[in-house]
Amino acid sequence: RVVVLDFGGQYNQLIARRIRDLGVFSELLPFDIKADQLREMQPKGIVFSGGPASVYAEGAPKCDPAIFELGVPILGICYGMQLISAHFGARVERAHKREYGKAEAEVVSDSPLFRDMDRRQLVWMSHSDVVVEPPSGFQVDCRTESAPVAAMSDPNRRIYAVQFHPEVRHTVNGDEMIRHFLYDVCGCEGNWSMETFIDDTVREIRERVGDKKVLCALSGGVDSSVAAVLIHKAVGEQLTCVFVDHGLLRKGEAESVMRTFADHFHMNVVKVDARERFLQKLKGVTDPEQKRKIIGNEFIRVFEEESDKLGEHHFLGQGTLYTDIIESGTATAQTIKSHHNVGGLPEDMRMELIEPLNTLFKDEVRKVGEELGLPKEIVWRQPFPGPGLGIRVIGEVTEEKLTIVRESDAILREEIQRAGLDREIWQYFTTLPDFRSVGVMGDARTYAYTVGIRAVTSVDGMTADWARIPYDVLERIANRIVNEVDGVNRVVYDITSKPPATIEWE
Ligand code: XMP
Repeated sequence: RVVVLDFGGQYNQLIARRIRDLGVFSELLPFDIKADQLREMQPKGIVFSGGPASVYAEGAPKCDPAIFELGVPILGICYGMQLISAHFGARVERAHKREYGKAEAEVVSDSPLFRDMDRRQLVWMSHSDVVVEPPSGFQVDCRTESAPVAAMSDPNRRIYAVQFHPEVRHTVNGDEMIRHFLYDVCGCEGNWSMETFIDDTVREIRERVGDKKVLCALSGGVDSSVAAVLIHKAVGEQLTCVFVDHGLLRKGEAESVMRTFADHFHMNVVKVDARERFLQKLKGVTDPEQKRKIIGNEFIRVFEEESDKLGEHHFLGQGTLYTDIIESGTATAQTIKSHHNVGGLPEDMRMELIEPLNTLFKDEVRKVGEELGLPKEIVWRQPFPGPGLGIRVIGEVTEEKLTIVRESDAILREEIQRAGLDREIWQYFTTLPDFRSVGVMGDARTYAYTVGIRAVTSVDGMTADWARIPYDVLERIANRIVNEVDGVNRVVYDITSKPPATIEWE
C-alpha cells in the first residue's frame, strides 16, 4: 500500500483515488501519525498531501520527523513539498503573487517522475508559498515562470516533490507522474483490485472473528448488503442480520428488502419493528444534528437488545464507507454532517465494530457488489441515508409528514423509472420543508405543504450537480404529487449543486 498523509488540502481524497485507480491500495491517514505506526503498516510509499497552511505559520501541521528516516520513498505535493524543503533546511518564501491555475512547467532533469514525457508539461498550480532553492542534496526537476523549483528530488534518499497538483485532471500527465512514482520509485506491483480486496477482507474478517458471533445491520442499501455478504462469506452461520424498520423507510422498502434477502441469500435475517419507538424519541426534536444522533443511538440500542435476545454477539457489522468517515470530521477535515453510523454512535457501545468497507468509495463498493454476485437491484440501488426519511422531513418528524414524503417519493421514483432516467440520475428523492403556503384547488383556498424534489448526478456523493430532468417529466411528477398526495399544494425543484449545498437537506 501507499499511504497519503493528510495535511488538509482540498484534493487529498483525490490523491488516494488516483493511486487506487492505478492498481495500488491507498488510504488517507492523519498527518501526525507516528513513524513507528507507519513502519508497522509497511507502506511502499508515502505521499505528503497539499494543505492550506504556510509551513512557518504557528500550528502548521508537521509530520513526525522520523518518517524521513524510514527509508520509504516519499512524494510531497504542494504543502508537502514545502514541508520537505523546510525540513531539509531550505527557505520557503511567500510568492510575489499567489499562483492559481494552469501553468507550463519545464522539465529540466531526468527524474523518473517525468520519464518519457515532453519537456513541457501543463500542470495545475494552487499555492502562495514557493521554494526558491532546493535543499542540499536535492536537484531541480521542473520550473515554471513563477516557481524556480516546481519539482525537485533527492534520488539517493528517494524523496520527490512537486509544487503542482498531479492528482488534478488539469495536470495533463498527472496520472503518468503518479504512476512513475508508484511503479518506478516505490516498486509497487499494481495488483490491487476489487477481487484482491474481497479475498483479503474475507480473510481478515475470519481471523478477527474466530468463533465469535456477528450481528449485522442490514438496511437493504448497497453498503450494508455488500458488508453483510462479505461477512457472511467469511463466517457463514456465525452471522445474523438484523433489519430494523425504524419507520423512516421508503414506501414498500421493508417488504422488498426482506423478500430480496430470502430469495437471493441464505442468511439469517431478523426483522425488528421499531417504528413506534423511533417516532417517540424524535418527538419535538427539530435540530438536524440532534435528529441524526438520536437515530444513530437508537439504532445501536435496538441492535444491542436484539443481540441480548439472540444470545451473546461480540461484533457489530456495518456498511460504513470511507466518505462517511471523512465527512463526519477527521483531524483535518471539518464536520459537515454526523453520518448516523459514525458520529452518532454512543460512547458506551458494547459491541466491537466490523466495518469492511470503511476504506472504499461508493463506486468501489458497487464493483465489489457486482464481483460478489449481488442482484442488480441492490448493487445499483440509489443511496439512501441511514436516518432515512427522518432527515427528509425538515423539522419535527411526525407520522403525517412521513406519509407525505413517502408517497411523493414513490411517485417521483415511479416517474423517473418510467422516463428511463434512473441509471443516469445518481440519487433522487423528495423532501418536505417545514412550512405551508397558500394555493387554490377547485375553487377553494388551500393552505398546505410544499414538496421539494432533489435529484443529483455524482460519482461518489462528495460533490454533486443537480440533474437536468426534462420539463415534461418534472411537470408530470409535480401534477401527480399535488393531485395524489394529501396535504400538498406546491412542488419545487432544488437546483443547487454540492457544494455549496449538500445532497440531503439535513
Ligand atoms: P450529503 O447530504 O452529505 O450526502 O451531501 C451525501 C450522500 O450521503 C448520504 N447520506 C448518508 N448516508 N448515513 C448514510 O448512510 C447518513 O447519515 C447519511 N447522510 C447523508 C446522502 O443520501 C448522499 O447520498
